[in-house]
Amino acid sequence: MASLLWFAHFLSFLLFHLRFQAGSSLPFSFNSSSAAMPCQHDQSLALLQFMKTFSIRSNASSWDFLYPKPYPKTESWKEGTDCCLWDGVTCEIETEISYLPALVSLDLSRNYDLILETSIFNELVQNLTQLQQLDLSEINMSLLDTLYLYNNNINGQIPSSLGSLKELSSLVLFDNDLNGEIPSSFGNLKQLHTLYLSNNNLSGQIPSSLGSLKELSLLILSGNKFNGEIPSSFGNLKQLDILDLHSNSLSGQIPSSLGSLKELSLMDLCSNNFNGEIPSSFGNLKQLGMLYLHNNNLSGQIPSSLGSLKELSSLILLDNNFNGEIPSSFGNLKQLRILDLHNNSLNGQIPSSLGSLKELSSLILSNNRFNGEIPSSFGNLKQLDILDLRNNSLNGQIPSSLGSLKELSSLDLSYNNFNS
Ligand SMILES: *[C@@H]1O[C@H](CO)[C@@H](O)[C@H](O)[C@H]1NC(C)=O
Ligand SMILES: *[C@@H]1O[C@H](CO)[C@@H](O)[C@H](O)[C@H]1NC(C)=O
Ligand SMILES: *[C@@H]1O[C@H](CO)[C@@H](O)[C@H](O)[C@H]1NC(C)=O
Ligand SMILES: *[C@@H]1O[C@H](CO)[C@@H](O)[C@H](O)[C@H]1NC(C)=O
Ligand SMILES: *[C@@H]1O[C@H](CO)[C@@H](O)[C@H](O)[C@H]1NC(C)=O
Ligand SMILES: *[C@@H]1O[C@H](CO)[C@@H](O)[C@H](O)[C@H]1NC(C)=O
Ligand SMILES: *[C@@H]1O[C@H](CO)[C@@H](O)[C@H](O)[C@H]1NC(C)=O
Ligand SMILES: *[C@@H]1O[C@H](CO)[C@@H](O)[C@H](O)[C@H]1NC(C)=O
Repeated sequence: MASLLWFAHFLSFLLFHLRFQAGSSLPFSFNSSSAAMPCQHDQSLALLQFMKTFSIRSNASSWDFLYPKPYPKTESWKEGTDCCLWDGVTCEIETEISYLPALVSLDLSRNYDLILETSIFNELVQNLTQLQQLDLSEINMSLLDTLYLYNNNINGQIPSSLGSLKELSSLVLFDNDLNGEIPSSFGNLKQLHTLYLSNNNLSGQIPSSLGSLKELSLLILSGNKFNGEIPSSFGNLKQLDILDLHSNSLSGQIPSSLGSLKELSLMDLCSNNFNGEIPSSFGNLKQLGMLYLHNNNLSGQIPSSLGSLKELSSLILLDNNFNGEIPSSFGNLKQLRILDLHNNSLNGQIPSSLGSLKELSSLILSNNRFNGEIPSSFGNLKQLDILDLRNNSLNGQIPSSLGSLKELSSLDLSYNNFNS
């Protein structure tokens, strides 16, 4: 019985896989006589650093028939020796061409006794730049409060066991090759304030359980392949500051519950397949500075409630199917610097109230169906740098007040019906 237990512990000890880089063909592993191919010095150092970051019960590690007394496997981890020969380290070779080994796989699975000191662990993982695989299944990292593994080549799925790291406050895995879904167990990460998974190959629906993460302040899932709708449970994320879901395959309507995210300063939903209207509840997002909804299939009128977003500095709605008029309430957006509505089906007159947007630097209304005259109030837009009204049905005289726009560097009034 005891030996079974020991065997289980033996299996459970951490394994590092070292693989020689580049090429393919006939991978094999070796345990010894690797003196010709010692692991790189910086990798040995990283592993030695790593050793200092965990505590392990002395009887919960290596055991074999020749040496029946259990001993910590890391006993063989010594500076100046080849880490390919260390217990728990496996070297693999994939090519005869390269003699530079690279640590590409860090398997931390089933280390029930491993306790990591997070800051060093994070630094370590940053140093292991070739890391491609990370298996954290069943690891006891309940004390881990941040996990930064960004900008690696980590592939595979996000282990759902991460959902048991109750102390976790930041999970930062952007710029890797992760695939599969976000485990719904993430709904248990009640301390999480940062979930940053952008630029991976994640797919499936965004689990609605994320809506129970009351502390969440940054939710960045952009540049993946998520589909389905935004869970309406996201309306519960009362601490959310940044919601960035851009460049996915999300669809359906934008849930009006997002209008209760009172702390939100940036919402980026661009480059998805959303349809339907902008919820008028967005008028409640009093902290919102940037609203990016471009490159979707949104339609209907732009809600006039957006005119109450006093902090709004960028509103980008281009490449949608909006129709109707620009709400005259937009004259209240005193912080607005960029208003880009081009490539929609907007019509009616351009409201003269836009002339009171003293901070406006880019006004882009091209490829719409605006008619009537350019408001002479535009002469008050002293910060205006770009004015693009190309390809509408504007007519009348071009107001001479435009001549007083000292900052103007780009003016396009072509494809209209102005008197000349
Ligand atoms: C490495 O060791 C394992 C068991 O310790 C053995 O099964 C395997 O054949 C060894 N590989 C080589 C290349 O010696
Ligand atoms: C990471 O690399 C830096 C610079 O090479 C080094 O100072 C630091 O000790 C390394 N940290 C770990 C945990 O290996
Ligand atoms: C390891 O030692 C602890 C006490 O330090 C003991 O409780 C435990 O049963 C031991 N485990 C094994 C597998 O011998
Ligand atoms: C994980 O480690 C913590 C802290 O040492 C301990 O309280 C907990 O019981 C461990 N959990 C498991 C499943 O071993
Ligand atoms: C991304 O995931 C899809 C499956 O969802 C797979 O077909 C594709 O090859 C993956 N792409 C990359 C670059 O890994
Ligand atoms: C965009 O929405 C319209 C309805 O507003 C629909 O007819 C059209 O098929 C949608 N286009 C795409 C590409 O989803
Ligand atoms: C306008 O939108 C259509 C489809 O929504 C797109 O194909 C086209 O490239 C866009 N044109 C410009 C100038 O953005
Ligand atoms: C004007 O905009 C419409 C869409 O609103 C587009 O189909 C057309 O190609 C544009 N014409 C020019 C000259 O840009």
